[in-house]
Amino acid sequence: MSALVVHGIGALCTCDPSLGEAPGVVRDAALVARDGVIVYAGPESELERSDIPRGALEIHARGAAVLPGFVDAHTHIVWLGDRGDEYAQRAAGVSYEEIAASGGGIRATVRATAAGSVEELATAGRERARRMLAGGTTTVEVKSGYGLDHDAEMRQLDAADRLRRWEDLPDAVVTYLALHALPDGPRDAYVDDVCSRGVADAAKRASFVDAFCDAGAYTVAECERLFTAARGHGLRPKIHAEQRSRSGGALLAAQAGAVSADHLEHATNTDLEALSSAGVVGVILPGASLVLGGPPPPGRRLLEAGCRVAVATDCNPGTCYSESMPLMISLAVALGGLTPAQALVAGTSGGAAALGLADRGVLRRGFRCDAVILKTPSWVDVAYHLGGDIVASVILDGRLAVPSKT
Ligand code: NIG
Ligand code: FE
Repeated sequence: MSALVVHGIGALCTCDPSLGEAPGVVRDAALVARDGVIVYAGPESELERSDIPRGALEIHARGAAVLPGFVDAHTHIVWLGDRGDEYAQRAAGVSYEEIAASGGGIRATVRATAAGSVEELATAGRERARRMLAGGTTTVEVKSGYGLDHDAEMRQLDAADRLRRWEDLPDAVVTYLALHALPDGPRDAYVDDVCSRGVADAAKRASFVDAFCDAGAYTVAECERLFTAARGHGLRPKIHAEQRSRSGGALLAAQAGAVSADHLEHATNTDLEALSSAGVVGVILPGASLVLGGPPPPGRRLLEAGCRVAVATDCNPGTCYSESMPLMISLAVALGGLTPAQALVAGTSGGAAALGLADRGVLRRGFRCDAVILKTPSWVDVAYHLGGDIVASVILDGRLAVPSKT
């Protein structure tokens, strides 16, 4: 039995929609967990001493705000190599597409990553996942997509799976990003391979399948074929859609019943309404929007269309080298037009929805106890303090995984 109680919470941001206006704040609260599950989340004055399990670790938030752990629902953290030189080239005026067309971009990361062993890949992913946990992320989705070859993709998935077995890391959810960069050889043969042994072998390692549907990447027809093949093996679809141009990927996501459609900068309001009607979560990746330029992340437009919204880092070596969910929540407000409350919900329960996880993202009895204790009493700081060092400690599955340094 493990148990923990957090006393003295100035503002408990439950992100529980049943508590009224987001983010469902309870003042002067306490949080109690037993074996990783929340057994009490409410006013400290109503907490009975008998509600606290015997032997519980008792910690004090000293009036600080407490939030659900962040759910980062879109990342590419298993990569090797370094593309800092490309970042500098882009700053000097070379476009992402020009770099990709000359063999750089995703293909550069593929050359370094496909050569790596599972051990090397897992070690690289672990370092990034550790930084994520320190920043308050308690669940992270991890994609493959830098293999461009069956065996190399499976090694990436095995490395992502290894992250799940290490206790000191965010809980990992694995996605087979089957169609990402274009192959050197005939693309039909590559898509055939992915749609046969790719999905069959990935289904033993991953929960979701994903595809990059865009000009210079894969077509709607190729992605649709992948989703049909993947569904036969129990992999649920996700899609990179309307990122660099309007590709039709969002409409495919709606029609295919994808769990999420991600990026969406070039999506029309009709696309977003289709996502809303189909119950597809819209995932905005404002770090990538910022780095690449172009239209802003459509946070407010998604909400206006009636869509569920998530915000994630897209942590990757090309378009957003950042592990920080607080920074993405800030950018969802500054660039995406969300309020701080909407952005916080998007980074917690929204992320959980984008991963089909109903057991987290909300601080309510019966949910997984993943929580962040801030250094300050004001929960708005999560959005307001741009790039700030705001996290004091992190509770992961009911354990104090990142203790306060002060
Ligand atoms: O989500 N859009 C495609 N994939 C990544 C970028 C990957 C890379 O540049 O290495 C993204 O932005
Ligand atoms: Fe991505």
